[in-house]
Amino acid sequence: MRIGFIGAGKVATAFGRYLHTKGVPISGYFDHHPEKTAHASRQTESVAFQSSADLSARSDVLFITTRDDQIEGTCRQLCRENSIAPRHLVGHMSGAHSSRLLSDAQNLGATVFSLHPLQAFADETESLAALPETWFSLEGDSAGLDPVIDLLVRMGNRYLTLSPEHKSLYHLSACMLSNYLVTLADGAMAALEQAGIDPREGFRAMRPLMDGTLSNIAQLGPARALTGPIARGDAGTIARHMEALRARGLDHIKSLYVHMGLRTLDLAGKEKATTAQASAEVRRILKEN
Ligand SMILES: NC(=O)c1ccc[n+]([C@@H]2O[C@H](COP(=O)([O-])OP(=O)(O)OC[C@H]3O[C@@H](n4cnc5c(N)ncnc54)[C@H](OP(=O)(O)O)[C@@H]3O)[C@@H](O)[C@H]2O)c1
Repeated sequence: MRIGFIGAGKVATAFGRYLHTKGVPISGYFDHHPEKTAHASRQTESVAFQSSADLSARSDVLFITTRDDQIEGTCRQLCRENSIAPRHLVGHMSGAHSSRLLSDAQNLGATVFSLHPLQAFADETESLAALPETWFSLEGDSAGLDPVIDLLVRMGNRYLTLSPEHKSLYHLSACMLSNYLVTLADGAMAALEQAGIDPREGFRAMRPLMDGTLSNIAQLGPARALTGPIARGDAGTIARHMEALRARGLDHIKSLYVHMGLRTLDLAGKEKATTAQASAEVRRILKEN
């Protein structure tokens, strides 16, 4: 089974190098940019193709690793130039889209799939180093996916399986856990700065607290991992937090604090961690203004 990549960007190059270390045969790469084609193929001891048609002819699995908004058009172009045959598995690596983007190839009898690595690929070497621990998600034509599953087993990576209609829910979950965590850290670090603490040093000081919370969520689930003033129903502390935000006019942090606080209160209610009276008092304070 020879694997070819159309688009030799960050993901295709790091992932191809990873496959190469596992002894998986890479046919080669084709990219609009000859220097990217040359780099990726050199790193994987594979062929730098001059056209996608030549790459398709010499590959069994085709990854369309262009930007998301180029995947469907690239697939359509491959189909128009008769580069797709029923023997092909055609996939992309987007987290946001399902394999339905590849329906033109599916209509020609190819098996289609999406294989998303749950990792950010900024630097090629660092991404390659992180790949052994990376989980993937797999979705597509269930009848023909055995070769992709064999590939995952050979790589030794763990994976989730999804149906196409659930891809958006899966992706928004990844965005919340990754991107929104950054937004939360930004709000907390702005509050640290207001307290006269260097935000980066403050973050380093809070890091063991965050790591412990992540372990607790993994072991106990979110509701039982919850600690702190809201879980205890400590209305006086919440009132002091709100007053500190008001006094400094930190409205942008306050709206985040209130929104997350109300959601945290619901979560605490699930474990019945607080009395109904304490919970009602905290809710009143959070909603006060
Ligand atoms: N980056 C991440 O952190 C990450 C993480 C997980 C999954 N992914 C997914 O991985 C996929 C690839 O992302 P990436 O960040 O590696 O993209 P990228 O670095 O922008 O690379 C895409 C490459 O494909 C080329 N290309 C576009 N259309 C082409 C065509 N028809 N034929 C040949 N080459 C073509 C692009 O050239 P031009 O620049 O000239 O268009 C570019 O060199 C996306 O689906 C993305 O959602 C990305």
